[in-house]
Amino acid sequence: MYVERVQKIIAASGYCSRRKAEELIKQGKVFVNGEIISLGDKASGNDYIEVEGNAINEKQDKVYYLLNKPRGIITSTYDDKGRKTVVDLIDINTRIYPVGRLDYDTTGLLILTNDGELANLLTHPKNNIEKVYIAKIEGLITKGYLKTLENGVVIDGKKTAKSKAKLIKADRKTNTSVVQLVIHEGRNHQVKNMFKALGYNVIKLKREAISFLTLDGISSGQYRQLTIHEVKRLYNEAKK
Ligand code: URA
Repeated sequence: MYVERVQKIIAASGYCSRRKAEELIKQGKVFVNGEIISLGDKASGNDYIEVEGNAINEKQDKVYYLLNKPRGIITSTYDDKGRKTVVDLIDINTRIYPVGRLDYDTTGLLILTNDGELANLLTHPKNNIEKVYIAKIEGLITKGYLKTLENGVVIDGKKTAKSKAKLIKADRKTNTSVVQLVIHEGRNHQVKNMFKALGYNVIKLKREAISFLTLDGISSGQYRQLTIHEVKRLYNEAKK
């Protein structure tokens, strides 16, 4: 049986980052087999680990959901202001969490799971998982700027990776454009910030697809479970 540092096991479960797990251990909030532990202690898959009262390595079936997130819902497992979160929309007793983040006012495809390994694979930028966004922006965008988006713009001092940008609609009357943007990274507010870097304000944003998964048949606020086949395919796509 292989043994690892407890903070590593906690991070691998997807509960929180390794650094946060270290803090929780120092704060005395982590128990292994009912005993409080110290930073540096190790455990194995046979041990019962509890973090802030939550069992993290119970033999629990993995579950996977695809949600069409509505506007005005927080992408988090908990909100200290008591606002509704994406997890509240899904009717199960198992503890699940969102994979990546959509802003409060962004709608569309979100995966929720208790599979920390898949969550980490899907969010790691090196795994090149495609995310398709439809952005409605103020102003009429030029072909040149679409190219600039594709080649990368500088956000917080770092250039974004290559992307694909396509004009879907330009409306002179309302002075708005609709652009499809396909990106691989998942930086904070990335799509809004990419447009902002060029002087455009995003009025509406929707994520239409993650890799081969789309919102087909799932209306706003609705969800479905992923099939075993889809989960396997996501693992394959991430490991390509
Ligand atoms: N990019 C954003 O700006 N917001 C989101 O919610 C997702 C991607």
